[in-house]
Amino acid sequence: MNNSLEFARTLDAADPLRAARSSFIIPVENGREQIYFLGNSLGLQPKRTASYIDKVMQQWSRHGVESFFMGDDPWINYHGHLVKPLSNILGTLPQEIVVMNQLTVNLHLMMVSFYRPEGQKRKIICEAKAFPSDQYMFESHLKALGLDPDDILIEVGPREGEHIIRNEDIISMIHQTGNDLALVLWGGINYYTGQLFDMASITDAAHSVGAKAGFDLAHAAGNVMLHLHQWNVDFACWCSYKYLNAGPGAVGAAYIHERYHNDQNIHRFAGWWGYEKETRFLMKKGFVPMRSAEGWQLSTPSPIMMASMRASLEIFEEAGFAAVYQKGQLLSDYLLFLLDDINKSSSSMIEVITPSSHNEKGCQISMLMHKNGKEIFGKLSREGVYADWREPNVIRVAPVPLYNKFEEVWHFAEILRSTI
Ligand SMILES: Cc1ncc(COP(=O)(O)O)c(C=O)c1O
Repeated sequence: MNNSLEFARTLDAADPLRAARSSFIIPVENGREQIYFLGNSLGLQPKRTASYIDKVMQQWSRHGVESFFMGDDPWINYHGHLVKPLSNILGTLPQEIVVMNQLTVNLHLMMVSFYRPEGQKRKIICEAKAFPSDQYMFESHLKALGLDPDDILIEVGPREGEHIIRNEDIISMIHQTGNDLALVLWGGINYYTGQLFDMASITDAAHSVGAKAGFDLAHAAGNVMLHLHQWNVDFACWCSYKYLNAGPGAVGAAYIHERYHNDQNIHRFAGWWGYEKETRFLMKKGFVPMRSAEGWQLSTPSPIMMASMRASLEIFEEAGFAAVYQKGQLLSDYLLFLLDDINKSSSSMIEVITPSSHNEKGCQISMLMHKNGKEIFGKLSREGVYADWREPNVIRVAPVPLYNKFEEVWHFAEILRSTI
């Protein structure tokens, strides 16, 4: 690698996914395309999304409620368009996916099924400084069960003076907690540092002490390679407005390992949409769940929201997720190379807190700014870079493979270099 514009252009020319950018609407200001590095927050809008939603609207206007069973694309089957592409991205069986609700709601629902404190087996291991919504979920959920969050939650954080959490520390806390451990509920990628965790070894360790393992994949779904089924993960939930580009407040999704689908003893909160499909409309008393992850649904799904997810998932299918992942790694490797180069001539003003190895990072790079962070961030914004600022002094950027270019990474680094 080198730090010339020509080199960035060579990478773009050789990029097998370069055409995918034209499937998205890139924000423009004063006639200039902006450098959008916030796919880790809200992914950009695919050009086809509006027409997919419009098809649902047309069907609604033509057939009203009968659209569930009539028209070109009966809504009763709409969920089926999403499970295959999602299972390719998440590494699951199609029947292990359910598209429903939103992330925090789904975390609560998964807690109902997979956190069953019994006797001394009641501890939960989670990340220190997990995303606030996860923290509030734990706090309120445990209180609703009459438990004291301070007694139940064991947070594992970085060691003194470090930014990332060592896998060995997570595993040793799991073993140390042993029989007292009921659940490990961890993030796939930490939202602040961008650290990707070793979900396979966390799951194995949890299972070795008879605990369940679940993951919040908000920052991992559509970003890194996942093999949830193969890793034997019990459950996971994610949102689809980040790397999955399904739009603001898009419908979320969950994975539930197939071994639970026919488990009559599993607790869950139920609603009519999770009822056995063939007999749902007999409206009988007594809940009979569908024998798949769809059995966790509660309410009537929105084909409008599912249409926006479908539009984006199609682009992933066209690209192939392995190619998306590889380009994502190359983009962040290239950014790390350029940041290193800037540091050489600026007495290391930027401390990258995201690990650099492929098995510990996705697209996001988090930069701890040692001096003038706010000013540098302001300059980036004025120059047309969408990045985000996290207190006290971190700038997060995520060049994403489906619509970002290597040349944009180069421009971003040049703005940083000139400002510093
Ligand atoms: C790691 C993580 N967990 C949970 C959430 C909350 O998601 P939602 O607002 O869809 O419930 C987010 C949102 O960004 C997140 O990044």
